[in-house]
Amino acid sequence: MSVSPDPSSPFAVAPVRIVPMRKRHLRSVLRIDQQVYPRPWSLGLYQGELAQAEDRRIYIVARAGREVVGHAGLVLVAGEGHVTTVAVDPAAQGRGIGTRLMLVLVRAALDRGVGAFTLEVRASNDTAQRLYERFGFTTAGVRAGYYAEDGEDARIMWAHQVDTPAYRERLDDIESSLVGPPPIDEVRNARPAMLGGGR
Ligand SMILES: CC(C)(COP(=O)(O)OP(=O)(O)OC[C@H]1O[C@@H](n2cnc3c(N)ncnc32)[C@H](O)[C@@H]1OP(=O)(O)O)[C@@H](O)C(=O)NCCC(=O)NCCS
Repeated sequence: MSVSPDPSSPFAVAPVRIVPMRKRHLRSVLRIDQQVYPRPWSLGLYQGELAQAEDRRIYIVARAGREVVGHAGLVLVAGEGHVTTVAVDPAAQGRGIGTRLMLVLVRAALDRGVGAFTLEVRASNDTAQRLYERFGFTTAGVRAGYYAEDGEDARIMWAHQVDTPAYRERLDDIESSLVGPPPIDEVRNARPAMLGGGR
């Protein structure tokens, strides 16, 4: 679905600040995951991810006012960015927060020299697949029965040729199509040492 900017739209959102994920956000992150994922990550798993060096992980949260309304994460390996999670509070979905998170995540990864992105997504998850397709991901294969809890297949999606002006333009186009203000990106300007798990 394409949306045209309309400030009177009921979907228009207040400014969303996207900041590096910190330990103090984890309670909200876990609360969101418990609502949206059949097998949510544990606190220990997130703590382990946040303890990794900033050149190997990017974890971010979206804040509307004081509330954490979503988060996203990515693992950097050998010049590739593997998106591990994108999740938005069910009460805040469909307002462009997932798109804003992806914009900031992808740009932060490009700044670190990523040349391609990949991820797995449930075969039935049309909303997420449409989101990823807007960011240039296409399905490259299927992992049968990937999700152990219910045996659902995963689609493996890739976005290639992302270190190009054309891809940066694509991101700019996505940003201009947002209803409401662009994300306030506090990830890009964060000091590198702050991108890990500091408080
Ligand atoms: C997938 C997910 C992260 C998307 O987050 P979101 O904030 O709802 O995403 P967006 O609002 O940016 O986009 C969702 C839809 O809302 C539409 N939309 C966005 N802003 C809009 C606005 N202001 N007005 C009207 N529609 C809007 C988008 O066009 C999109 O429509 P489409 O699905 O028809 O293409 C969210 O659904 C989620 O958390 N799902 C559960 C977890 C999950 O499955 N994560 C993916 C794991 S691989």
